[in-house]
Amino acid sequence: MKALVTGGTKGIGKAIVEMLLANGVDVHVNARNLQDLEFQNGALKTLFEGRNITYSSNDLSDKSAIQSLASTYKELHGTLDILVNNAGVFLPGLTTEEEDGVLESQIETNLYSAYYLTRELMPLIEQSEHGHIFNMCSIASKIAYPNGGSYSISKFALYGYTKVLREELKSKGIKVTAILPGATWSNSWAGVELPRERLMEAHDIAISVWSAICMSPSAVVEEIIVRPQLGDL
Ligand SMILES: NC(=O)c1ccc[n+]([C@@H]2O[C@H](COP(=O)([O-])OP(=O)(O)OC[C@H]3O[C@@H](n4cnc5c(N)ncnc54)[C@H](OP(=O)(O)O)[C@@H]3O)[C@@H](O)[C@H]2O)c1
Repeated sequence: MKALVTGGTKGIGKAIVEMLLANGVDVHVNARNLQDLEFQNGALKTLFEGRNITYSSNDLSDKSAIQSLASTYKELHGTLDILVNNAGVFLPGLTTEEEDGVLESQIETNLYSAYYLTRELMPLIEQSEHGHIFNMCSIASKIAYPNGGSYSISKFALYGYTKVLREELKSKGIKVTAILPGATWSNSWAGVELPRERLMEAHDIAISVWSAICMSPSAVVEEIIVRPQLGDL
């Protein structure tokens, strides 16, 4: 099987990349920072010898960069089974007080990236016998985050899009899964003074993704809701 993971150099995306590779899937990793991609690629090639591991740097808030990622992927791999729309950004703030443009930039990165990349890659996914699309939503897709208003708006929208996609692709045999994690250790939480056990590990989310992939063709996990044991932050 072959997969493309967006935002795959850090946090949850990185854990999903490693989980897929460990289970024999070839992976293309996307992010913006080229140095991170090169460094990660070197490490992964040592760890997972024999896997086809590729990468490209594209800013998915930009539609033309999404098209460029899709054509690079098609050239390198030709087929696609699993698409993980994980890239996302969290900009804290109140909708009534934040600077102009904060909503737009999160809608672009958190919603449009998944929408346009999925459209670009649909011809490949349709050819797969194991087509599966994961959209990285959030608990903020279900409840309003206290200091993350525009982020919540973008994640509600991504969750809505995921439900639409599920209905549209049902009859084509393509699975669609919304992942809704609560607080998970990653760069987004850097500097926050909390005990490690208060948040989930990115690996926990990767385990849930892999178990959804392992289901028989007649079953689909529509939503994965995972929260810290002590509840939301
Ligand atoms: N951590 C949590 O508590 C939590 C909870 C619920 C949902 N989520 C969601 O899970 C996803 C991953 O979150 P995370 O906490 O693991 O984030 P993270 O550690 O900040 O990693 C984000 C990844 O996305 C890439 N990225 C960011 N903007 C991008 C863009 N415009 N184009 C392409 N790649 C981009 C980053 O690399 P570059 O910077 O190099 O581009 C990085 O690889 C996000 O969608 C987030 O909203 C996270």
